[in-house]
Amino acid sequence: MIKKCLFPAAGYGTRFLPATKSMPKEMLPVVNKPLIQYGVEEAIDAGLTTMAIVTGRGKRAMEDHFDVNYELEHQIKGSSKEEYLEGIRSIMDKSVFSYTRQIEMKGLGHAILSGETLIGDEPFAVVLADDLCISPETDGVLAQMVGLYKQFRCSIVAVEEVPMEDTQKYGVIKGDMIRDDIFKVTEMVEKPAPEDAPSNLAIIGRYILTPDIFDILRNTKPGVGGEVQITDALMQQAKDGCVLAYKFKGRRFDCGSVAGFVEATNYCFENLYE
Ligand code: UTP
Repeated sequence: MIKKCLFPAAGYGTRFLPATKSMPKEMLPVVNKPLIQYGVEEAIDAGLTTMAIVTGRGKRAMEDHFDVNYELEHQIKGSSKEEYLEGIRSIMDKSVFSYTRQIEMKGLGHAILSGETLIGDEPFAVVLADDLCISPETDGVLAQMVGLYKQFRCSIVAVEEVPMEDTQKYGVIKGDMIRDDIFKVTEMVEKPAPEDAPSNLAIIGRYILTPDIFDILRNTKPGVGGEVQITDALMQQAKDGCVLAYKFKGRRFDCGSVAGFVEATNYCFENLYE
C-alpha cells in the first residue's frame, strides 16, 4: 500500500521574488502555517507515514520546521503558547521525514527522479505544496486518490477544469470517461496554447505514481522549457499501460502565484483559522 509521499520542493519560486530570495516558497505562511505543513497534513490524513522532501540550495528552513527547537520549546513550556505547537508536534509523532537535494533545477520530472533514492520500488504519492487543496466536506484530495489507487492500481493525476485561456499554465489531458469523475488518459500535453489544448482538464499538484515512472523519467528527454516534464513521462506510462485522471472533490488554490496565495489566505482566515 502507499506509505510514502514525495514533495518536490526545489524550485526557485521566481513568481514570489523577492520573498523567495532566501526563503523557500514552501515556507510561505497561509495565515499561520507554512504551505508545506498543509501538504504534510493532507498526506497524513491519507494514511501516509513517510514524507520524502526534495530540496535545493537555500531550503534548510523546511528541515528545521519539521524538527524540535529545544530553546523555543523550553522557553514556552507550561505557558498558554504551548498549544500553538501542538499541530506540528503531532505531525512529527506520526511521520518520518527524509530529504534529498536536487542539484540542478531541471524541472519537476527531474525533481521526482531525484526522489527515487527516498522512495524505492513502491507506489507513492506526490504533493506540490504550492497547490493548496482544501476539502472541508469530504476526505482530503490525497485520501480520495489513495482510495482510487486501491481500486485501479495505476498512476493517477488530479485534474480540474480551468478557463480555456489558462491552459498554457498546466499539463492538460484528454481521456475516455470511465466514471463521471474519472478519465483514462489518452493524451497529455504540457502547457498548450488554448487553441492546441485537447481539453480544459488541467493537472494540479497531486499525483499517485507507480515506481516504473523512474525508469521512464530516466529516459525522458527535456521537453517544454528545456525541463524534464513529468507530463511526458506520464504520457509514456499511459501508452504502455494506464494512467487515470481524477476530478477531485474540493478546492485548489494556486499558491505559486501571488493572486492565488492571497485568495487562499483570505479563505483560510475566514473558514479554518480559530
Ligand atoms: P513551478 O513550476 O511552480 O516552479 O514548480 P517554481 O520554481 O517552484 O516557481 P516559479 O514558477 O519560478 O515561480 C512546480 C513544483 O515543482 C517543483 C517546485 O518546487 C514546485 O513545487 N520543482 C520544479 C522542483 O522541485 N524542481 C524543479 O527543477 C522544478
